[in-house]
Amino acid sequence: MLRNPVRALLLASALSLTAAPVWAFEAADANAWLTRHDSRVDALLKQMTLEEKVGQLVQFSTGQATGPENIKVDQKDLLKNGGLGSILNLTGAKEVNEIQRVAVEQSRLKVPLLMGLDVIHGYRTTFPVPLGLAATWDAALIEQTARIAAIEATAEGVRWTFAPMVDIARDPRWGRVMEGSGEDPYLGRVIAAAYVRGFQGSDLSDPTSLLACAKHYVAYGAAEAGRDYNSVDMSERMLRDVYLPPFKATIDAGVGTFMSAFNSLSGVPTSANHFTLTTVLRDEWAFKGFVVSDWTSIAELIPHGIALDGKTAAFKGFTAGVDMDMQANLYAMHLPELVRSGKVPERMVDEAVRRVLRTKFALGLFENPYTDETLSAKVQLKPEHVALARRAAEESFVLLRNERAKPIEGSPLLPLADGKTVALIGPLADSADDMLGEWACKGDKKDVVTLRSALAEKLKDKLLYAKGTEILGTVETGFAEAVSAAEKADVVVMALGEHRRMSGEAASRTRLDLPGNQQALLKAIVATGKPMVLVVFAGRPLTLAWEAEHVASIIHAWHPGVQAGPALARVLFGESSPSGRLTITFPRSLGQVPLYYNRFKTGRPIGGEDDDQKDSGARYQSRYLDEKNSPLFPFGWGLTYTTFEYSPVSIGGMKSISLADLENGAKIKVEATVTNRGSRAGVEVAQLYIRQRGTSVVRPIRELKGFEKFSLQPGESRTVRFEIGKEQLAFWNVDMKHTIESAELAVWIAPNAEGGKPAIMTIAN
Ligand code: BGC
Repeated sequence: MLRNPVRALLLASALSLTAAPVWAFEAADANAWLTRHDSRVDALLKQMTLEEKVGQLVQFSTGQATGPENIKVDQKDLLKNGGLGSILNLTGAKEVNEIQRVAVEQSRLKVPLLMGLDVIHGYRTTFPVPLGLAATWDAALIEQTARIAAIEATAEGVRWTFAPMVDIARDPRWGRVMEGSGEDPYLGRVIAAAYVRGFQGSDLSDPTSLLACAKHYVAYGAAEAGRDYNSVDMSERMLRDVYLPPFKATIDAGVGTFMSAFNSLSGVPTSANHFTLTTVLRDEWAFKGFVVSDWTSIAELIPHGIALDGKTAAFKGFTAGVDMDMQANLYAMHLPELVRSGKVPERMVDEAVRRVLRTKFALGLFENPYTDETLSAKVQLKPEHVALARRAAEESFVLLRNERAKPIEGSPLLPLADGKTVALIGPLADSADDMLGEWACKGDKKDVVTLRSALAEKLKDKLLYAKGTEILGTVETGFAEAVSAAEKADVVVMALGEHRRMSGEAASRTRLDLPGNQQALLKAIVATGKPMVLVVFAGRPLTLAWEAEHVASIIHAWHPGVQAGPALARVLFGESSPSGRLTITFPRSLGQVPLYYNRFKTGRPIGGEDDDQKDSGARYQSRYLDEKNSPLFPFGWGLTYTTFEYSPVSIGGMKSISLADLENGAKIKVEATVTNRGSRAGVEVAQLYIRQRGTSVVRPIRELKGFEKFSLQPGESRTVRFEIGKEQLAFWNVDMKHTIESAELAVWIAPNAEGGKPAIMTIAN
């Protein structure tokens, strides 16, 4: 029997790191809340004029703009006339109550407003950016961060977040890789569901429940050349195998809303894509919540070229399946007339309004439209919220490399020993604002403890500090001071990387090296010969090939949030051990991208990472003349302060299993024993991968199908066990059926996507 994912999760958090949940993606009854109030919805709908109905499908921003500012309307006037259903970007209980009062007390039907905001990785208590949170491989932890974000946001009148962003992203040039969980659809599903449960909680009508929104539907993360908003052209198989599953997982977790995207998909913009918005979302998945457009994406159907005017854009967006128009004002302007002229049936409008109203009823907004104005001061940045921010940051750090400072002497440089003089150098060492990361919501740099302040508190006068340069620096006048600080110290900690606005929306890059002259500064300090730890802050993978050759220890710290400094200080000095693992591949050089672990094998593989043999060096094979094919750091990679040994993976002596048995629910039981061979306790993430060959279509060279995160004492062992059944083996075959096929099956239990040796068996007809 499949375990209930919520129960499994509770169990996992109760046991802390001792047991991993079994992630089952059964389509439970998580969506039942959506239709619970339908008799009230229908009664209200009957009283509404066409204009009032369309008003429920209109959304405008107040205050800050999160897209091009295109329109100004008198929102209070609109509200009085029932012409506005939702507002985004307004916060503060008092401010929200004031506008809500207009809707609830001055409009004819008193339909409350739904207030939305991008609550992405925390509200005031800022957690690591989502790509960093994903690196924790800890769904229970991620769920808790989302719950805290919901508690803080709802105290300020916000009841709807435009999160989680569940776009699979495989191109680090795209700035929005930072907002998601990386390149893998399995992990993407686990994490997507965790966010939904955390934001929404168990009961939508609880005042701390924050309605979630799965975005950006769909394939936005595959933007060509990594340029934001760019078009996407992909096979339906790739869409269904890789890009759709995290969205489906949010529905199974009970998500209330979806957001359509900016990109076109195989020629049809995703905000007017009937196939994805209606055939898949409504007909196949039976989603009962509503779909909001992205910011002006209905109007953008005109520059996309599938509409020449606003009326056609409104018609195409609405009839494809977008229920609510964010910020374009085209539904308000054209839907009533489109209905009156018979082009859009009124029952389509009714259905869209029904979806919006059922959500407002479920949230309890009709009964409790107002927010307690004394609440916010009590819940923001509570000590337990800040404590979780520190823990999340600690678990998000990925130790990419940890060598001896001098090639033949001593042990790996990290953790640092007490009593040493440390030179802290670099433009990110004391940059509070950048620690918050992009989409930091109400994050405030005043709340941030930087690495400099945390180390100053710990080391007192044994800390030397020099900024060295700016993040995008061009002048080298600060280098001399930095070199002199390094020379006086026993060890150097460099804090380099991207500023927060270099990732996120509209933040694509064509270079992924350290920005500005930071690498020149690094080279100057490396030349001093001092032992060095490099801490990289960035919202994406950077190309760190030179750094990986010349620096003993490298920690990728993402943008870690309000507790950046204390979390890093603890990890640097070994009070806690790094346990993050990459969820996105780090390329050696930009020319390799997109580079992701679950790629297909070519007909001319070079060996090595492609087929477990050595690169023969022969010509006419799939390779570059000037670079290896393999990544610098693969998916799943991350070191800690001990080492783990894996036994060979066992499939219990099984040579073969039949398709019929798998169809009937039989499982392949696989296991491996992991032993801590070092002298310190440490956390490992054991990863289950499979590969199928002999199938009707090409399958990836590896696919993640499970993982378990656990802690081991020195010398301690743990046997990790997984089951592989139909759910793990099914894929979209040559006839576009989601099915299992006869195949040769390889199974790994390994520390990352390149490690380990597989066990092989067959799936027989
Ligand atoms: C972004 C969305 C966001 C929306 C509202 C858009 O520009 O693409 O992710 O939710 O703005 O702020």
